[in-house]
Amino acid sequence: MTRPINIAVLGATGSIGRQTLDVIDRNPARFKLFGLTEGVRSTNREAPYFVHGQAGEPEFDTKVEAMVTDPRCDLVVVAIPGARALSPTMSALRAGKEVALATKEVLVMAGALVMKLAGEKGIRPVDSEHSAIWQCLWGEERANVRRLIVTASGGPFWARPELDLDQVTVEQALNHPRWSMGPKVTVDSATLMNKGLEIIEAHHLFGLPLDAISVCIHPQSVVHSLVEFVDGSLKAQLGRPDMRLPIAVALAYPDRLPGAVPPTSISELSGLEFHDLDETRFPSVRLAREAAAKGGGHPAVLNAANEEAVNAFLAGEIPFSGIVSAVERALGAFPGCGGTLEEILQADSWARSYVRQQDGIRPVG
Ligand SMILES: NC(=O)c1ccc[n+]([C@@H]2O[C@H](COP(=O)([O-])OP(=O)(O)OC[C@H]3O[C@@H](n4cnc5c(N)ncnc54)[C@H](OP(=O)(O)O)[C@@H]3O)[C@@H](O)[C@H]2O)c1
Repeated sequence: MTRPINIAVLGATGSIGRQTLDVIDRNPARFKLFGLTEGVRSTNREAPYFVHGQAGEPEFDTKVEAMVTDPRCDLVVVAIPGARALSPTMSALRAGKEVALATKEVLVMAGALVMKLAGEKGIRPVDSEHSAIWQCLWGEERANVRRLIVTASGGPFWARPELDLDQVTVEQALNHPRWSMGPKVTVDSATLMNKGLEIIEAHHLFGLPLDAISVCIHPQSVVHSLVEFVDGSLKAQLGRPDMRLPIAVALAYPDRLPGAVPPTSISELSGLEFHDLDETRFPSVRLAREAAAKGGGHPAVLNAANEEAVNAFLAGEIPFSGIVSAVERALGAFPGCGGTLEEILQADSWARSYVRQQDGIRPVG
């Protein structure tokens, strides 16, 4: 029998991190926890590598680098939100590791560079929509794909057109109707920026042009996304909203884990709805498409401005509606740059300073 796969989990105390530990624990013959990072919370776990602290602190970054490049490490799960996950992801890929990526911001910022580093083996998506598309594409010729359809629950506000988005509270924005997730991605779901980021993520992961990736609102979150083929056929992946499934798919690929989640009964599939997205009320998808089409540093500006603005909203410094307008202003003011790593990191810094100055908000901690 082959030995268990050694897995390092970046962001082990978070929503994705804890569910990853659960999948590892329930499959000891296949998986072994090789290392983990913790921030302010604790998992009470032991592993050969244990890294405590915040990304950006020299000791944390050095230990993470050693963990993800250790020859014994087979697979790295990236689940620290935001731009701070870019550097360890690139280190793991440079060292030839398999990467299971939850942090979509990494591909938004530097998708071309990251996919080039990943090479033939690619990246294993953890985002449920991208896992669905990935599974639909197994065994299919890429030339036969016409379109990807990324589903969106719509978040807490899509179905409430009467609501004044200027007045939305942090508590309301964090009350996601379907998924229990960390605060950053939950607010992104409420602004629909999450779907904008996911379009860019899908563009890089699957190599399709931006105009071949559409979004549809599907409030039940049972159909996790769809692929349309040139013959008119549609393939979808379905299941309950439970992130342990896409995590299990990413860890076990190309195998499947028996009993990863309880089966979905066919009666749960009645009453599924699909709606067009109103991009006037939720302009974030359009902003993401425009930033990705411009390329260079624009997607990094979109991402960094959004991170700063979401943190400012969570800290009570700007209103909910101020998040997307801060991103739009930053993109409008950005002079543009190329797409080298250095230029992308400069664009990221530029956007953070710009948003802080314009909106008078404190830096992200
Ligand atoms: N949750 C989901 O269902 C879901 C679904 C799809 C994609 N994603 C993506 O997965 C990523 C993680 O999301 P999540 O919901 O799991 O987030 P989360 O619950 O907020 O967890 C974040 C994790 O990262 C750690 N962390 C945060 N800031 C850090 C920093 N500056 N330095 C080092 N570690 C830091 C946290 O540590 P402490 O809390 O201990 O400080 C925690 O372990 C995001 O990019 C999100 O978009 C999540």
